[in-house]
Amino acid sequence: MKNHMQAPTPPMGWNSWNTFFDHINEELIFTTADAMVEQGLLAAGYEYLIIDDCWSMKDRSEDGKLVPDPEKFPHGMKAAADYVHSRGLKFGIYSCCGVRTCAGYPGSFEHEFADAAQFAEWGVDYLKYDNCYRPNNQTTPMLYRRMSMALRSSGRDILLAACQWGTDDVHHWIRSSGAHTFRSTIDIQDSWKSIESIASAQIENQCFNGPDCFNDMDMLVVGMYGKGLNPETSVGGCSDEEYQTHFALWAMMNSPLIIGCDIRSMSEKTKEILTNPDLIALNQDPECRSCYQIPVYGNPDAFILVKFLHNGDLALGFFNFSDVAANVTLDFWDIGLSYASGCSLRFYDCLSHRETGIQKEFFAPRVAAHGCKIYRCSIVEN
Ligand code: GLA
Repeated sequence: MKNHMQAPTPPMGWNSWNTFFDHINEELIFTTADAMVEQGLLAAGYEYLIIDDCWSMKDRSEDGKLVPDPEKFPHGMKAAADYVHSRGLKFGIYSCCGVRTCAGYPGSFEHEFADAAQFAEWGVDYLKYDNCYRPNNQTTPMLYRRMSMALRSSGRDILLAACQWGTDDVHHWIRSSGAHTFRSTIDIQDSWKSIESIASAQIENQCFNGPDCFNDMDMLVVGMYGKGLNPETSVGGCSDEEYQTHFALWAMMNSPLIIGCDIRSMSEKTKEILTNPDLIALNQDPECRSCYQIPVYGNPDAFILVKFLHNGDLALGFFNFSDVAANVTLDFWDIGLSYASGCSLRFYDCLSHRETGIQKEFFAPRVAAHGCKIYRCSIVEN
């Protein structure tokens, strides 16, 4: 049992909600588990396969248990977990702190300990825990603490992924509740507008983000291209440039990386974005430093994210949220590298995977509309 951190770096995996909504079943889970291995996602670090809402019957059994929908999961949840484990992956499931889940299935309110024991018996490794249909007289800190307590007494290590949408000042109390990740925003949609607004809102919350309790900016929409069976998420789609920027933002901002597209039929470009080892290394950096933002003079839609890395390197992300290409200028003075330091920066491009040379005093890469340039830099003497 627990003698280690469950989320020393942001969790990585796949979740059924963005693309499949309530159209889930064991065939989908088995074939997705196969694809996670065969497409190289597990090797890239994506280890959790998470079933979201709509997996159970609409009512509990007479003895109060959650019952898997026999049409969707004819062999039950233990069989699903066993298959996922047999592929070297970890198994995630979904419940809610209210009386019902957001889609109207039974929630875990007042069933926390029995449900946690049931999840442990099935072999669950990760619980996404939502916030719908919560009785008005119950506060969220208490209900997340309670499920945390239930999981910790279940006899199995189960990561608690709180899904509380950033309400009730969640950043301030969630770490003390025992949760390992916390959703900080409303649901993401497959659109540039949604990506932009989530990222912009969470930059100021980076200071609350850290090992074993990461700010979850919601599941990735990379590779959805406006497709999918979820009418709430599938609202038009994005360009590859925008998906690349989305992934780079989530990586730089230490968000969990939970894929939401159908990985069984993903394009080569989607796979390239999702498995970029240089961006994943920034997200999984063992020191888990928060990034900070440098504004760009004269261009309110551009900014730079800066993050210290454990080996002494520095990650620099140049982002352009405007609708036209722009030069995004960073004066090294603004990140503490003064003229008197006698130092410059050596740049490695995390998107082209190439060294791009040494820059002195400033750097101003050209960045496409809604695009980004991401570098790993080392400090060198002049
Ligand atoms: C909420 C969550 C989503 C998803 C749905 C399921 O909206 O924020 O991520 O889990 O519920 O009903």
